[in-house]
Amino acid sequence: MITCSAPGKIFLFGEHAVVYGKTAIACAIDIRAHVTVEEVHVPAVQMKGPGGNVDLNQRKHPYIYAAVEKFRNLADLPPENPTSASGSGICIDIHSEIPVGSGLGSSSAVTIATLKSLDVFYGTHLSPDEIARFGHQVEEEVQGRASPTDTFVSTFGGLVRIPDRVKLDFFDAPIVIGNTRKFSSTRKLVSNVASLKERHPQVINQIMDTIGTIAETGVKYVTANDFTTVGELMNINQGLLDSIGVGSFELSELVYASRKAGALGSKITGAGGGGCMIALCEHKNLSRVAHSIKRAGGDSFICRTSNSGVRVEKEK
Ligand code: MEV
Repeated sequence: MITCSAPGKIFLFGEHAVVYGKTAIACAIDIRAHVTVEEVHVPAVQMKGPGGNVDLNQRKHPYIYAAVEKFRNLADLPPENPTSASGSGICIDIHSEIPVGSGLGSSSAVTIATLKSLDVFYGTHLSPDEIARFGHQVEEEVQGRASPTDTFVSTFGGLVRIPDRVKLDFFDAPIVIGNTRKFSSTRKLVSNVASLKERHPQVINQIMDTIGTIAETGVKYVTANDFTTVGELMNINQGLLDSIGVGSFELSELVYASRKAGALGSKITGAGGGGCMIALCEHKNLSRVAHSIKRAGGDSFICRTSNSGVRVEKEK
């Protein structure tokens, strides 16, 4: 039996502008998806469920299914049609602390933890680069289009500059996450921004350039652990995200509630429209900010940035 875990991620700066090649900074957080692979005496790939094990189903578990398919050429997996053979199979169990569909990279964390668990279980010795690449391919197969950022951060952890995917000196910071619990479609938001940019190219191109400049400027301050300036830059970034139409009433309420309670900086993380916001805080203000976000109607939880990517948790 093998259990691996992989982290979720936030954007400190630069979402949306990164779609146009500008710099962004993403960071792993210490909330993780845990995936266990164990041997079962049934010739099938199964999923552990509340009512017992069920056969892996592409519609119900698209990411796990695509990750398992990646392994078919690499390892001695049970056949797709379990009735046609005898022998043993595997059961996969998932426990994720990362809210689904909220911009924190939950599908990537599950995908990367699954690939690593299969890798260790079958002894295929994939490199971290291969795990990140396969993870990105899995996401593309399931979603059509996927940015490689989430799978890269889930694999390697830490602070990552995008689009060149360079790991920066770690930024160890406490963060409060506020979740609006409103689903948002990344595809739709990216397409809305593209139409806005087509209608007002001179205006929006400059905003994208400025968001990129904020991220580039931010590199210096995150690596120097200058929380005050990072917070200030996050607030400027938030204003520009609002200006390109990816904010929402609920997100603004959580952003301002966190600032009122003393957050050094707060902004949307991910595509916006709903999903989550992040607040950078001093230790002394963490609970105050978390409570203030709750009072404003969001779910909130305190986490930290994390330098740890995918890892083996348990092996028996
Ligand atoms: C979504 O998490 C971040 C976006 O910049 C899209 C992307 O980078 O693929 C909005």
